[in-house]
Amino acid sequence: MAALSSPLIAPSVLSADFSRMADEVAAVEKAGADWLHLDVMDGHFVPNLSMGPQLVQALRPGSRLPFDVHLMVAPVDSYIEAFARAGADHIHIHVEAGPHTHRSLQHVRDHGVKPGIAICPATPPEAVGEVLDLVDMILVMTVNPGFGGQKFLTSQLAKIRTLREMADATGRDIRIGVDGGITPETAMLATQAGADVLIAGTSVYGQADYAQAINALRTGEAPRRA
Ligand code: DX5
Ligand code: ZN
Repeated sequence: MAALSSPLIAPSVLSADFSRMADEVAAVEKAGADWLHLDVMDGHFVPNLSMGPQLVQALRPGSRLPFDVHLMVAPVDSYIEAFARAGADHIHIHVEAGPHTHRSLQHVRDHGVKPGIAICPATPPEAVGEVLDLVDMILVMTVNPGFGGQKFLTSQLAKIRTLREMADATGRDIRIGVDGGITPETAMLATQAGADVLIAGTSVYGQADYAQAINALRTGEAPRRA
């Protein structure tokens, strides 16, 4: 199921104004976002702290967007239920977070949430091969996780292509998301390689006009200056 139509855009609230978070979520929904991406960092798996299930729960009633929760947490199992209850629609866990990724993904599904497997830049694509039957999405990190505003790693394009082939070979409808350093230019490279979900923090929340920013990511064209 190669990506034929325009990619889904998932703004990451990591780059939003945390003092006005509910308004920031409403703003991207109004601006045409498809999903909302929420980055959860534990200060251990990644060298940063961000948010917990309370914030996800607080935002849930104010938005109709699917909540795409990216857990950069190890070990992760004891937090899956909390994020499912908080209103996550998708939960991504890292293949590197171990030790029992297969069981963790089953836990996500058991809670009625769509499971995704996230993969860091240094990890080869084959590392997720044995769990593709369990996931609805592969989240390819195109930066090292932990911070917004980093530069897209073009070295990951070959991995996106390989994972697209692996996903299609299953015969199941598995999305490929890309996360980190997505701009209109890198969005085009990623979608050409087979990605169909674009996660973007800086390229949406760092821009003055969210609707224009989202449209630029969808079309791969940088917004024109007024
Ligand atoms: C990084 C996070 C990303 C981050 C992307 O660890 O997983 O979702 O918000 O930010 P940008 O788009 O600024 O690279
Ligand atoms: Zn993320």
